[in-house]
Formats: sequence, C-alpha cells, structure tokens
Amino acid sequence: MECFIREGLPFVREYETPVIVNVVGKTIEEYVRVAEVLSDYPEVAAFELNISCPNVKEGGIAFGTDPEMAYRITKAVRTVTRHPLIVKLSPNVTDITLIARKVEEAGADAVSLINTLLGMAIDIRKRRPVLGNLVGGLSGPAVKPVALRMVWQVYRKVSIPIIGMGGIVTAADALEFIMAGATAVAVGTGNFKDPTTVSRIIEGIEEFLGEEKIFDITQLRGIAQQGF
Ligand SMILES: Cc1cc2nc3c(=O)[nH]c(=O)nc-3n(C[C@H](O)[C@H](O)[C@H](O)COP(=O)(O)O)c2cc1C
Repeated sequence: MECFIREGLPFVREYETPVIVNVVGKTIEEYVRVAEVLSDYPEVAAFELNISCPNVKEGGIAFGTDPEMAYRITKAVRTVTRHPLIVKLSPNVTDITLIARKVEEAGADAVSLINTLLGMAIDIRKRRPVLGNLVGGLSGPAVKPVALRMVWQVYRKVSIPIIGMGGIVTAADALEFIMAGATAVAVGTGNFKDPTTVSRIIEGIEEFLGEEKIFDITQLRGIAQQGF
C-alpha cells in the first residue's frame, strides 16, 4: 500500500477518468486497513474488493467462496469507508447468486463478475504442471459463456448494479453482457492482446445503437432475461 501511495497515485493523477482501487488481502483486517487509509486520498474514487483470495486466518478458504465470509468482509470494509464499494465475485463456486445476495445485504453498492476461473496445464514431456503455482487463473474469450451465464443469474437475484467482465473483446461481447443485465462492462485480457480494444468496443456499441435506433443503452439492460 505504501508503494501504491508513493508510485501509483501520482501516476493515476495524470488521468481524468475516475480510479477504482482493487483491494486484495490475506485477512479481513488487511482489507479494512487499505480502505481506511486510501479513503483519504482524493485520487481514489471507489474500491473494488477482490475476494477471490484465501483467508489465512480462517483455514485458507477464499473469502469469495463462502457466503458468510463474503458478508463479513464486505460489512467490515463498509463500516470504514463512504466510497462506493464494489465487490468482485469469484466464479469458482457452486451458486454465485448466494454470494451476490450476501454482499448486497452487507452494503455493497455494486458487484463485479467474474474473476478468473481456476485452470491448469501439464507439460507432457516433463510430466509436470506448467504453472509454478500448479493451478492458475483462466481468463479471456474462453471464459465468456460462463461469465455471461453468471451475470444473467445474478441480475435476477440482486438489485444493485452489475459490472460484467470475462472474455469481452468485441462490442458484441459487451452488448451480450448488458443484455444479460450488466450496467457496465470491463475488459481485462483483451487489453493485453490489443490496447485499442476498449475504444473499438465503445465505437462498436455506438454503431450498434445507431443501426438499431436505440437512443438509451439502458433500454437494453437485462433485455435477454426473458426466454422465448
Ligand atoms: C494478468 C491478470 C491479472 C489480474 N489481476 C487481478 C487483480 O489484481 N484483481 C482482480 O480482482 N482481478 C484480477 N484479474 C482478473 C480480471 O480483472 C478479470 O476479472 C478476469 O480476467 C476476467 O476478465 P477478462 O477475460 O476480460 O480478463 C487479473 C487477470 C489477469 C489476466
């Protein structure tokens, strides 16, 4: 956190866009401390809690895979900051809607989903896992159908806004998430492949809205909730 204050904040000060700080920690106290300290810096517009991390004090289970733990961490951070609080959900669960409802109940202003799916690769010549950590986060276009399904499911169960992400690389991908119920979308892996991804997506959405004669994108939010 000290390094972020020293080097990260002066860097983001250059930009006009609001800055959301993604918070990670090993214990609830660490998350709380980061939110408490960084709330005093004007460069910080909002917090996003990355709860896909193990709670080292309580058996190493990821905060985001246990509804009670997700509730407690959200509530604890909620009490120390008035900044908008987004909770980023892990897809590595049986029913993501249970976690979404718990963090909403604990005071989250929005949820973002999904974080990476756990995956692995094996080197068949060495007969060993490829990744140093044995398993690792899978992201990019391969995860899009899973992410989209989860956004669609969560939209039915919460009333706070959803930031949808997972494999978005085109305007059509982004529009799918909006039609599933996302209020906003985010691009991670796509930026690594092509740094113009976000501007292409924005232009593509504008073009689509023009073609379809839609004046307000909110008309599309959740529109694919109905079946046939
Ligand atoms: C290299 C890399 C680093 C990431 N770091 C974080 C992180 O620090 N915190 C977090 O909440 N998610 C992190 N993620 C997850 C992404 O923010 C995103 O939720 C996920 O990759 C799915 O979106 P995408 O397919 O557009 O990348 C990271 C993903 C990648 C590929």
